[in-house]
Amino acid sequence: MSASPAFAHAAAIEASLERVAELCPDPTPLVYARLFAQQPQMAPLFWRDTKDSIKGEMLARAFDALLDFVGERRYAGHMIGTELVTHEGYDVPREVFATFFTVVAETVQEILGDEWTAEIAAAWRALLAEIDLYVQRTPRTDVVSPAMDERRRELAARFEAS
Ligand code: HEM
Repeated sequence: MSASPAFAHAAAIEASLERVAELCPDPTPLVYARLFAQQPQMAPLFWRDTKDSIKGEMLARAFDALLDFVGERRYAGHMIGTELVTHEGYDVPREVFATFFTVVAETVQEILGDEWTAEIAAAWRALLAEIDLYVQRTPRTDVVSPAMDERRRELAARFEAS
């Protein structure tokens, strides 16, 4: 457990993930079966991943990010923002990107079965809500705000006049 966790329910999240590691050492198939059932349009985006290694790596990085996010939060807040933008390059809309953590939470619940307590459920609910705040505050690169559009026109006009 972390000495000074960034997240009030860190212990419950860490304990649930440790239990997942014991009960189901490779949850990759469960996570992606659930993801593709909810978002079938995402499956073809993994066309390069013929050996499922990218899926496994992505899940491992998501687990690491979750543990850092609830613990020391050294990089996870920033990583969520940068991966969000990187994933737009893979054609993953940001609204879909954030659902991955919900899919992970639902899979943890599936694996824990009867061991999924009200305390663990509350911890995951709070965690997903806090991650969502990071997602919401990442500046959008896929839309142009009216203010930026105005600024771009101004700069273009100045460039043409020079
Ligand atoms: C539903 C949401 C998501 C979808 C559909 C998705 C989709 C993808 C796809 C298609 C790739 C492979 C791109 C390629 O061909 O190289 C990828 C890679 C990756 N994703 Fe995601 N992603 C999602 C959410 C996330 C989240 C939440 C994280 C972590 C915070 C993450 C971390 C990564 C990483 C680290 C890679 C690179 C893996 C590697 O090649 O080593 N992804 N993702």
